[in-house]
Amino acid sequence: MFKPLLAWCIGLSIIIASTSAAADINIIPKPQQMEAGEGSYHLDAHTGIDAPTSARVQQIVGFLRESIHEQTGIELSRSSHAHGIVLAFDPTVKGDEAYRLMVTPRGVVIQASSDRGLFWGVQTLRQLLPLEHASSVDIPAVSIKDAPAFAYRGFMLDVGRHFYPVSFIKKQLDLLSYYKINAFHWHLTEDQGWRIQIHRYPKLTDVGAWRTEEDGSRYGGFYTQNDIRNVINYARERNITVIPEIEMPGHSTAALAAYPEYSCTKQPLAVAHTWGVFKDIYCVGNPQTFVFLQHVLDEVIALFPSPYVHIGGDEAPKDRWKDCAACQALMHEQGLKDEDGLQSYFVKHFQSYLESKSKTMIGWDEILEGGADKNAIVEVWRMWLGNSVMHKALLNGNRVIMSGPFYLDSPLDKLTVKDVYRTDITKTASPSTPEDDQLFVEHRAQILGGEAPLWSEHANPFNAESKIYPRMLALAENLWTDKHDDAAYGDFEQRLQAQYRWLDAQKVAYGPESEPVAVYTVDYDAQHGDWQLHAKRGFDNLQNRYTVDGSDPAPQSPSFDDEVAIQQAGTLKVVPYRNDLRYDNATSFSLAHNLASGRAVTLAQAPDSSYAPASSLVDGVLATSELHDGRWVAWHDSNLDATIDLRKDTAIHAIDVGFLQSLESRVLLPESVTFLASSDGQHWTTLYTHAPAFDPSLLDGAQRFRFQPQQPVTARYIRIEADQRKTLPASFPDGAKDLWLFSDEILVQ
Ligand code: ACM
Ligand code: ZN
Repeated sequence: MFKPLLAWCIGLSIIIASTSAAADINIIPKPQQMEAGEGSYHLDAHTGIDAPTSARVQQIVGFLRESIHEQTGIELSRSSHAHGIVLAFDPTVKGDEAYRLMVTPRGVVIQASSDRGLFWGVQTLRQLLPLEHASSVDIPAVSIKDAPAFAYRGFMLDVGRHFYPVSFIKKQLDLLSYYKINAFHWHLTEDQGWRIQIHRYPKLTDVGAWRTEEDGSRYGGFYTQNDIRNVINYARERNITVIPEIEMPGHSTAALAAYPEYSCTKQPLAVAHTWGVFKDIYCVGNPQTFVFLQHVLDEVIALFPSPYVHIGGDEAPKDRWKDCAACQALMHEQGLKDEDGLQSYFVKHFQSYLESKSKTMIGWDEILEGGADKNAIVEVWRMWLGNSVMHKALLNGNRVIMSGPFYLDSPLDKLTVKDVYRTDITKTASPSTPEDDQLFVEHRAQILGGEAPLWSEHANPFNAESKIYPRMLALAENLWTDKHDDAAYGDFEQRLQAQYRWLDAQKVAYGPESEPVAVYTVDYDAQHGDWQLHAKRGFDNLQNRYTVDGSDPAPQSPSFDDEVAIQQAGTLKVVPYRNDLRYDNATSFSLAHNLASGRAVTLAQAPDSSYAPASSLVDGVLATSELHDGRWVAWHDSNLDATIDLRKDTAIHAIDVGFLQSLESRVLLPESVTFLASSDGQHWTTLYTHAPAFDPSLLDGAQRFRFQPQQPVTARYIRIEADQRKTLPASFPDGAKDLWLFSDEILVQ
């Protein structure tokens, strides 16, 4: 599979003659060898294509004709006398994906020893065409010899957390193929949604494809087997193998919501609507679980021609297996040391099952725990474990796909285009031992390539492209050329600028190279008594469209560049647009008129500095139920005791304060809440006290406590006291310490 090109490249310098045509060549990924020629080939409606008559080559010819028509407006001749472009098999072009492309004034020749090579030659030819429509175009003379450094160049999309329509996936396949990515890893099942129709188990999609969101709305969707065949064929026409992932034994809440009989507890479950790692996983002690999953895999195998099937294997907590009599019985019967051994037993079973169907199993690197068969392909992602994962996989004889350094859900400023480009997947992570360094060199051939996963907790069809591009172009070149030095990156950067024209033409909402698309903040402006909505923009020509009535901002909504004053309370929504393309879901702010807005707040105990400052308590902007929304003021093992000076005696109709509960994060509602009022700051009257009982069954979220007297109260000073819980039931882990109190707006009306 993997063929290093060193033999070819050594001693050959890559020369680009300084003709004006060559200056326009901006191919990504950069060909291994490229030499500019003299002049150009004049392509027009008299040009035809000569090619072998096999079905696949004729499909490639059709693809080339259509592409030329779309890009230039030129309809190539179909006359048998017309020529100019030749596609030909040539066994001397070594390598499964290798090709040669020669453009001279006499014509264009693409040679390869395989269909795959011919197709990549066609994709390179497309990158030589101008973008403008014309009756004829000049293709610069050039001679290219090309082949990839790595056989596996992948992109993964998680369609479980957010669903992506077939049209979105096809658009990505077009783009990925244009840059010679050859694997689409389709992460089809998750806790939050099962997305592949399985005829034998209709509840997987009737039940498992739909979840109830926090606000009560239903979210979901799935791909019919026809949709899936459609995507596979579309990908295959573009040289892309579609690899299905069916997660097991973990990340299976949606499947177990549909068929709880395959969980350890067999209790009803809901499809997850929050993010995280969930404890209910497939019961390995139940033989029927194996039958069920084999039936599922049978339908998957029948659908997907890919030689690989991904079974996940990551993040499977063993809590349920520890408490399950059937799982424990199996563990002892098999003489397994622990639950990791059970996971290994489970994974090996499915590896053999897949092998019996001529499929190679891929799994996330946890499949190494408890021992893995050497024929499995390991997808390495846990970079925080240093070199230990690669060490284990390489020594065990596994082939590996490296994805940890390329997580596209990482913010654009945390994983920049340059970071992606500069990462060398054949090198050990620092710190490394000489043994590890040597191991990587000796086992280099086991490194199949790399993949960039897009996990979708925070990705959706609006913002996904800004996370995928241009970083995917950097990965495409990383894995094609395996060059990472400053010079290579500088050269890539220049060619990338030219590629933006292509991405614009394809209406791709690509992101900036090293900063977020847009960061929105709202401040209260005490001087004017209104709010300022600020945008930190990743592009100068980004437009921020907003509404103040809670409606979704549309292309015709008012826009601003860097900041705008907002007078109206209510729901403020803002969306980034660029070149008429929408870049994200709306960011919402809940604004409320507050007599305390902008007034001085004195806190008896300082809040934690990693959360919002005290001023956030009185800015007229309410926090959401999201812990990290930047609006919560937080106290760690201490209490809220805030005094607000309204500057003069004021008639108060209501006081209303918000708190958050998030049990996993040890954020609890307070044990007691007291509101007091004073006209002199010395003598206080208690207005309200409340002592909410500890309720672990309470769903995580925000709660507001409100005081609303029959007659308004007059006061200049307001004091809010909220105390952390001092006692908790024994069932609460680690008792009443290491607790957080989260409070937001103190609304005085
Ligand atoms: C993973 O990111 N859980 C493979
Ligand atoms: Zn069990």
